[in-house]
Amino acid sequence: ADPPSSQGHVSPTNATRRLPDIIIIGVRKGGTRALIEMLSLHSDVVAAQREVHFFDWDSHYQRGSDWYLSQMPYARPDQLTVEKTPAYFTSARVPERIRRINPDARLLLIVREPTERLLSDYTQVFHNRLEKRKRQQMLETLLIRDGELNLDYKALNRSLYHVHMRRWLDVFPRSRVHLVDGDVLIKNPLVEMKKVEEFLHLEPQINASNFYFNQTRGFFCLRDRRRERCLHGSKGRKHPRVAPEILRKLYDFFHEPNRKFFELVGRTFDWKS
Ligand code: A3P
Repeated sequence: ADPPSSQGHVSPTNATRRLPDIIIIGVRKGGTRALIEMLSLHSDVVAAQREVHFFDWDSHYQRGSDWYLSQMPYARPDQLTVEKTPAYFTSARVPERIRRINPDARLLLIVREPTERLLSDYTQVFHNRLEKRKRQQMLETLLIRDGELNLDYKALNRSLYHVHMRRWLDVFPRSRVHLVDGDVLIKNPLVEMKKVEEFLHLEPQINASNFYFNQTRGFFCLRDRRRERCLHGSKGRKHPRVAPEILRKLYDFFHEPNRKFFELVGRTFDWKS
């Protein structure tokens, strides 16, 4: 889980906790933290501090919707509440559970080029565990079995977006899910955030002055009336080098799943495969 961001906990008058109007359902390593932080730039949005894991962890789900509500921030009646738990996207029981408890929620899914997302996922798991050279060897062992891609590797499965998306669309209409292009969000956050504002019917407010490029980090950082901030250092890690023949295998492999995903969601993304 991400480290919590540093918003206050004071409850202004009229503010109450409400079930989230918006849920960022994933995908893990798609840029979910950037998305929720950027959305929080808008004065009509308040975000839950931590990943709630209500719908995917049985121990939380069994505590019921009152517990879920207690995890939400205070919001004024004119504000929207948002929570993000990237594990929701790939968790089979989650769509139906959301429909039961919070049927009106609007869903945001941020996706990234599947191979890049896989490498980011892998890097997150092994970053603190292995030194650099071992990390590269380990990646090959996980990815390749008997010369072929190992389809049982979880991080690879999480990049099969069409498999997971299908389950969501069995439960929610397509119009309820807005897709954010995570690769564009990295390079041009404003473009994607304007689309998010529109989807959520928010008054257009997020603008170019909310973002500035930080050379040292190599990413955009955020600025609002109160302060300037970059995302935590765990966002934007260097990925391991991958042998070109393995990269090729990955791009080839994802070609068909990507096509199915594009067909399912009725749009395309500018991905290598
Ligand atoms: P990498 O660390 O692989 O580069 P999540 O928040 O879902 O875990 O996603 C993390 C990813 O968000 C990072 O993956 C990074 O590429 C991406 N990201 C997008 N916008 C960013 C920003 N402004 N600052 C830092 N990382 C950003």
